[in-house]
Amino acid sequence: MYGPDDLELNRRDLMAGASACAVATACPSASWAAAPASSEPVMSKVSFTVNGTAHEIDLDTRTTLLDAVREHLHLTGAKKGCDHGQCGACTMIVDGRRINSCLTLAVMHQGDAITTIEGLGKPGDLHPMQAAFVKHDGYQCGFCTPGQICSGVAVLDEIKAGIPSHITADLTATAAVTADEIRERMSGNICRCGAYSNIVDAMTEVAGRQA
Ligand code: FES
Ligand code: FES
Repeated sequence: MYGPDDLELNRRDLMAGASACAVATACPSASWAAAPASSEPVMSKVSFTVNGTAHEIDLDTRTTLLDAVREHLHLTGAKKGCDHGQCGACTMIVDGRRINSCLTLAVMHQGDAITTIEGLGKPGDLHPMQAAFVKHDGYQCGFCTPGQICSGVAVLDEIKAGIPSHITADLTATAAVTADEIRERMSGNICRCGAYSNIVDAMTEVAGRQA
């Protein structure tokens, strides 16, 4: 005759058997979950220039460009806002194009020329975009500002190069630097302080100077 302990054992055995069965038959990725994780990082040498200076660093291949520049080269201008490609605070200019440096691995940038906010200008010798942000109060706390300025510089270059945005009406002509164009192209750079209208003013002024 069965006692309560035997019943408990049977229930446990039944559950374990059912789970194993379900994993084996209903979960095609079960073999992924079972793969042992390697604890050893894979290292690689990466060479690129940052703000005109050549660097060669040994990196864990999983290191993002943002972490390589901030943690290994100690250039902390670019910020880690979200680490998910959603805020633009980490924007850098790579071979002339702005990118979210948190979304790209450093090892993918072998030989690239990278510009961060530190490479655009310095106190006493500001880039025109930096000077315009100061003049127009294009920031409050300043956390998003390095990304905004790198993006702003690249946006004006994109317009000059004839690259259309989602709202450019005539795809065969160079877009005018309107407030709408600026807002559309800068929409990946979020500012929690809401300095947007002043950023538009700053960029408009720089675009006027460059025209
Ligand atoms: S930190 Fe890269 S987009 Fe937010
Ligand atoms: S100035 Fe504070 S988040 Fe933009």
